[in-house]
Amino acid sequence: MKKPIIVSVLNYKGGVGKTTVTANLAAYAASKGHRVLMVDLDPQASLTFSFLSVHEYVNVYMSKTLKQFFEPYTKGKSNAPSLDELQVSVYPKDIKLDLLSSHLGLMDIDAEFIGRLMANTQNLLAANFISVYSLLRDALNSMQTPHDLVLIDCPPSFNTMVKNAIVASNMCIIPTRMDFLSTFGIDQLNARIASYVEQYNDYAVASANSTIESPEILGLVPTMVTLYRGGLINDAAELQSAYEKRYHMFPWLQERATFYGKAPSTGIPAVLGKYYIPSSRTALGELEKLGAEFLKAVNLPNG
Ligand SMILES: Nc1ncnc2c1ncn2[C@@H]1O[C@H](COP(=O)(O)OP(=O)(O)O)[C@@H](O)[C@H]1O
Ligand SMILES: [Mg+2]
Repeated sequence: MKKPIIVSVLNYKGGVGKTTVTANLAAYAASKGHRVLMVDLDPQASLTFSFLSVHEYVNVYMSKTLKQFFEPYTKGKSNAPSLDELQVSVYPKDIKLDLLSSHLGLMDIDAEFIGRLMANTQNLLAANFISVYSLLRDALNSMQTPHDLVLIDCPPSFNTMVKNAIVASNMCIIPTRMDFLSTFGIDQLNARIASYVEQYNDYAVASANSTIESPEILGLVPTMVTLYRGGLINDAAELQSAYEKRYHMFPWLQERATFYGKAPSTGIPAVLGKYYIPSSRTALGELEKLGAEFLKAVNLPNG
């Protein structure tokens, strides 16, 4: 079966628009006919609650989340449900958009995994490391549902979940605010990905497993920007020109609190714009432009 393109949405800062970008890129790609899977690795479950109501979640889906997938492995068992069984179709009608939901309990899973990584011998350490950090990749690879694209929404940290996402993905995309402190973290993130991949590969060689490559950085998505006369303002403009020498810069998304803030409560991502908010036309156009550039970057047809 054809393998999907797997993209992590990464940044270890919180509140930079990772979840918003994940939901909208996924919905955009799905609206262009692709079968898309979203993976919510953040225990805060913002992506999950952008699609499922709290009521539905508590009554139905809370027992079908990534917690139920990871938990058996924390106890050394391998009887986890498959991701095909756990995924929820969030648009049952015309759009093929699936979700692997999160759970607050992913926080405990992270702590349990750190415990499991301890070992008395180097060989055992290598084997544990590779088995814990390859779980998501192996499970995604053995899914029966034929997805074209998988988008992984990461928590704002560099924990065992994010490390699973890095091993699983071929590519990553980095949403960022355009201020000094936010962009400062990007080079650090880049360096951490590289050193983590190196560590993974050392353990892979030591335990006779296959090595991986760093996910390709598709580029940065400037989020929550303020424009003046159609261009970025002072500091943001300077940062943009510094970064565009080294990273691909995707089209920006302007700050639009009502447009982006309201969408999750409707269960419909802003880009599918089924409701109307004054001033949302420009924001909608920006999301569509970003969606089109993203599909081009991952080599999927735009419609
Ligand atoms: N372009 C934007 N303009 C205004 N508010 C935004 C924008 N993008 C996201 N937000 C809001 O900012 C908050 C943080 O965004 P979110 O996507 O959850 O970030 P992260 O996943 O990185 O923590 C959310 O309340 C979201 O609705
Ligand atoms: Mg988030």
